[in-house]
Formats: sequence, structure tokens, C-alpha cells
Amino acid sequence: MERSEILKQFGNDDENLINILHALQNNNSQNYLEKDDLKAAANHLNITYSHIYGVVTYYTMFSLKPRGKNIIRICNSPVCDMEKSSDIITKIKKILSIGVGEISKDKRFSLELSECLGQCDIAPGMMINEDVYGNLHNADLASIFEKYK
Ligand code: FES
Repeated sequence: MERSEILKQFGNDDENLINILHALQNNNSQNYLEKDDLKAAANHLNITYSHIYGVVTYYTMFSLKPRGKNIIRICNSPVCDMEKSSDIITKIKKILSIGVGEISKDKRFSLELSECLGQCDIAPGMMINEDVYGNLHNADLASIFEKYK
């Protein structure tokens, strides 16, 4: 969809900023926001580019560089850390042959670390796109990744 078509779906009130950024990012086949997205959103909402840049760089769900088709967010906060999220991270890196912040060779996945995902009761937790996974064990990971083509 054209950028302008996306923007037309939202009013000019700056309370729409986060939703606009999500829509623009979701529309990008590489799951990120281009400079022109930020400029277009700034024009649409009549706010500064630097304001939008600040918002985009504050929230970890937004990216200014290309990512894989599916975004893996693994929680690295204290509760998950106590439940050995570091072992899960190590296993993910091995299965997908990528490091944190990298894209898998087939471009299916990006791996990101996250602050608390609000799923501490099922630590260690992970999200893939909007899907939440908890009580993770290394043995579960390969079959979970199979679901995301
Ligand atoms: S600390 Fe990991 S989900 Fe809350």
C-alpha cells in the first residue's frame, strides 16, 4: 500500500502517532521505518521530524533498519534472567545462526532482546510478532520457529 494511503486512514491529531508508525512499519516488507516514513508522518501530523525520531528510537518495537519477516523478542529482564533466559538466547542464536540484532540468512527472523514483556508469570518469555510464548525450554524452540515461514 502506498504511504499516502496509509496516512489517509488516520486523522491529523498527534495522538495517532504510534498507530501511524505501526501501520507504516507493518506495511514495509522488511519490517522497519524508512526516513521517508518519518518525514511523511511528521508532515501529516504537523510535528517535527526530531520529535518522531525520538519516539521511534525510544520504543524498541520500532526499527530504523531492515529486519526479518518475523521479529523474535526475547525478554532479558530480571525475572526471565533468573529463569535462564540467557540459555534460551544462546539456543536461539545457534538454531538460527544469528546474533542479537541480526537477520537470519533466509530473512525469516530477526532476534531482539526486550525489557519485560509483561509475562513474568510464564518466564522465561518470548514474543514472535504478536504471539507470546512462555515457560520456554530449549527443546521447544525449533518447533515454534517452524510455525513462521
Ligand atoms: S521479566 Fe521477562 S516477562 Fe517480565
